[in-house]
Amino acid sequence: MFDVRPTGSGEEFGDAVYAIGQYFGAPLTEERIERFSRVLPFERMHAAFDDGQIVGGAGAFPFELSVPGGELRCGGVTVVGVYPTHRRRGALRAMMDTQLRDIHERGEPIAALWASEETIYGRFGYGLASWCGEVTVAREWSAFALPLERRGRTRFVTAEEAASLFPPVWDALRRERPGVFQRTPDWWALRRLRIPDEEQANPRRFVVLEHDGVVSAYAVYRQHPAWGDGVSHGKLEVFEAVGATAQATAEIWRFLLDVDWYATLEASLLPLDHPLFMLMSNPRRLRFRVGDGLWLRLVDVGAALSGRAYAGDGAIVLEVHDAVCPWNEGRWRLEGGVASRTDEPAQIALDVDALGAAYLGAVSFAQLRDSLRLEELADGAIRRADALFEWRPLPWCPEIF
Ligand SMILES: CC(C)(COP(=O)(O)OP(=O)(O)OC[C@H]1O[C@@H](n2cnc3c(N)ncnc32)[C@H](O)[C@@H]1OP(=O)(O)O)[C@@H](O)C(=O)NCCC(=O)NCCS
Repeated sequence: MFDVRPTGSGEEFGDAVYAIGQYFGAPLTEERIERFSRVLPFERMHAAFDDGQIVGGAGAFPFELSVPGGELRCGGVTVVGVYPTHRRRGALRAMMDTQLRDIHERGEPIAALWASEETIYGRFGYGLASWCGEVTVAREWSAFALPLERRGRTRFVTAEEAASLFPPVWDALRRERPGVFQRTPDWWALRRLRIPDEEQANPRRFVVLEHDGVVSAYAVYRQHPAWGDGVSHGKLEVFEAVGATAQATAEIWRFLLDVDWYATLEASLLPLDHPLFMLMSNPRRLRFRVGDGLWLRLVDVGAALSGRAYAGDGAIVLEVHDAVCPWNEGRWRLEGGVASRTDEPAQIALDVDALGAAYLGAVSFAQLRDSLRLEELADGAIRRADALFEWRPLPWCPEIF
């Protein structure tokens, strides 16, 4: 049996984070512990102890996550790992149990994560709630379908300037789409704008697009020059490009696609309904590859269902099964945007991970039914549920955390 509790010192924090570090990193220095704990407080980092030794860790960033029509407090689950010496003995299960109880007690109705492997988190009630993908476009295929009138001006900014110029654009994205978490000033400084040591010789660039002096889009990108046979094989890597309006999004992408020298431009984590697909003259040439994006868990089913907006006015009665968080078990009636307990007969029966998959509006109840993930108990229930839950634009989480 593992003893799981929050870390209480820099040393414990470092050892717990080093559980994931066992798979791709060096032990944390004091400086890295100090930096990381500014976005992940010690008490949000759980450690699994075996005989007094830390052998696993699981963290949860205190997020506000945009959901359809609003935002909710959310445990942003991160740095989950178990030392290879202690794998498959129940350490992860013990940490997930304790962490979900902690998230619940803190009043965070949902939890979200990026999964290193799709097989891990369904058993703990997380559902695959969004899709995203990578594009690789060759320079010669970068034309837009329609002429673009450029109304804004681009200019480079320093990381310090970016810290105040980028957030309003990010906040516009949070208002527009589900799946975007709020970034604190520390998050911006330490996670998005900091130039890592290995980039010092050729660091990422920060650029803003301004319309009438107001920043309407930004991009973070890096060039990887390479030459062979006298021609460029270089790559332009887009870390993040966000626009507050459709015009601004088109213009910032035009800027990126027009940078000289690169042979291919790469960007990742783009949602399936990203404007780029219809902006391009040859969308096939983006060579889009899709994978799973954000996974979502309803930690408090009632608060989570009542915390998002719905497209339609109907009502639905759901029977939710939740083996890990038993307080969610039972029948819930959703009507007028409010979920409450009910004794009425259920119209759909499903596990909480399937409900998590449907929650952000990217996965339909019809798809879940066809994938044998739920049971329709009343005629038309799936259609009614989809009319309620469907949401556009699709969720987009532009950063892995
Ligand atoms: C993934 C990881 C945390 C699992 O830890 P663990 O302590 O071995 O897991 P547990 O023993 O608690 O297993 C709990 C259950 O999950 C299953 N499981 C654990 N890891 C799994 C994996 N990678 N793939 C499929 N199933 C897995 C176990 O078989 C067990 O299933 P059961 O409840 O049906 O018996 C650990 O293998 C690890 O650190 N991996 C590398 C880092 C990583 O991928 N972290 C996740 C980051 S998102």
